[in-house]
Amino acid sequence: MKKVLIVFGTRPEAIKMAPLIKEFEKNSDVFEMRVCVTAQHREMLDQVLSFFDIKPQYDLDLMKPGQDLYGLTSAIILELKPVLEEFKPDFVFVHGDTTTTMASSISGFYSGAKICHIEAGLRTFNKYAPFPEEINRQITSRVTDFHFAPTEASRNNLIKENIDPKTIIVTGNTVIDALFQSVEKVKREPSKLVKSLDQKLKNSPLLLVTGHRRENHGEGFEQICEALKTIAILRPEIKIVYPVHLNPKVIEPVNRILGKIDNISLIEPLAYHDFIWMMDRAKIIITDSGGVQEEAPSLGKPVLVMRETTERPEAVDAGTVILVGTNKEKITNEALALFDDTIHFEKMSNRHNPYGDGLACGKIVKFLKESVE
Ligand code: UD1
Ligand code: UDP
Repeated sequence: MKKVLIVFGTRPEAIKMAPLIKEFEKNSDVFEMRVCVTAQHREMLDQVLSFFDIKPQYDLDLMKPGQDLYGLTSAIILELKPVLEEFKPDFVFVHGDTTTTMASSISGFYSGAKICHIEAGLRTFNKYAPFPEEINRQITSRVTDFHFAPTEASRNNLIKENIDPKTIIVTGNTVIDALFQSVEKVKREPSKLVKSLDQKLKNSPLLLVTGHRRENHGEGFEQICEALKTIAILRPEIKIVYPVHLNPKVIEPVNRILGKIDNISLIEPLAYHDFIWMMDRAKIIITDSGGVQEEAPSLGKPVLVMRETTERPEAVDAGTVILVGTNKEKITNEALALFDDTIHFEKMSNRHNPYGDGLACGKIVKFLKESVE
C-alpha cells in the first residue's frame, strides 16, 4: 500500500484538493491517504472543509492575524517535519502557488517523498506579479517529481524550463471537478443566506466582486474601490455584492471607501456553495482571484480581472475574461460597457471552459496508480 499525504492551507487550495481527496478515498485499496492542513487560512479554510466534509488527520493551525511571509514560511517547513516523520508518505501532494504549497513541497522533498504538484506550470515570468505566487510556483516546480498541469499552455511552460515531458500530465483543472460536483447541489438546496440575499436583490442586475492579491494592496485597492464607488453612484439600479476577504489589508480600504453606499453590500466571505450560487446569479464578475477566473466561464459569466498580467491566458484568449488592471477609469468603463452593450455582453457570456472537463482528479489518481503498479 502506497502512502499519500495531501497538504494544503488556504481556501482555494482546499476547494481544488477536495475532489482529489474523494478520488483517493475511492481507491483506498491502493493508497493510504491522509490530509494535513497547515491552516494558513482558518475560517475561510474551515468553510470549505465543512462543505466537503473533510476531516484532516493533521491540523497545524498556523494562521496568525496579519501574518507575514517570513514567519509563515518557516513555521510550515518546521511544523510539517513531525507529520512527515510519523506518516512517512511515499507521495506528498501540494497545490498551486501559495506559501503553503512552496514550503510544504520543500519539507516533503527533505523527507524523501516524491512531490506531486497539482495546477503545475502556471507562469507570468514576472517575479513580482503575482507576488509571491510566481516564485512559489517556480520553486515548487524545482522539487516536484510529477507535474499535473491543467492545460497544454501550462505544460509548455514547464517544458521551456527543461522539465522532463514524461513527468508532466495534462489533466484539466480540479477546480472544475469541484464546481461540477457542487453546482447541482447548490441549485437544489439553496441555503437560508442565499434565499434572503435573493429576496433583497429582487430583479436587479448583480455585479459580484472579490479581491485580495498582495500586489494590489495599498494604491491598487484604493483605485479598485474608487471604481466600484463610481459604478454604484452612476448606476443606482445595479447592485454590487462584495464578499470581503479577511485579510486586514483588504478589509480596511474596502470598509473605508465602500462602507456607506446603498447599493453596495459588503459581506463576510461566502461559503463555497453560496459563492457558486452568487456567481450564477451575477451578471458580471470583477475579481483578481485565480479560482474565480477559472470557474466563471463554466457559468457563462463575463469576468473583468483586476491584474496587469495573468498566468491564466486561456480564458482571455477564449474571450470570457478581460484584464483591466487596477486603473479606476478602465475598471469603470469596462464594467459599464458590459452592462450597456448587449452584443459585447453576449459575446463574453459564451459558456466555454478552457480549464477542464471535470475529470481531472480521475486522471491524476489513474496516473499515480499506473506509476506504482
Ligand atoms: C493567500 C495566498 C494567496 C491566495 C489567497 C487565497 C500566500 C502568500 N498567499 O493570500 O496566494 O491566493 O490566500 O485567498 O500564500 N485571514 C483570516 N482568516 C482566514 C484567512 C485569512 O483572518 O481564514 C487573515 C489573517 O489576518 C491572515 C491574513 O488574512 O494573517 C492573510 O492571510 P494569508 O494567507 O497570509 O494571505 P492571503 O492574502 O489570504
Ligand atoms: N470563494 C468562496 N467564497 C467567497 C469568494 C470565493 O468560496 O466569498 C471561492 C471561489 O469559488 C474560488 C475560490 O474561493 O473557488 C477562490 O479563492 P481566492 O479568490 O481566495 O483565491 P485564489 O483563487 O485567487 O488563489
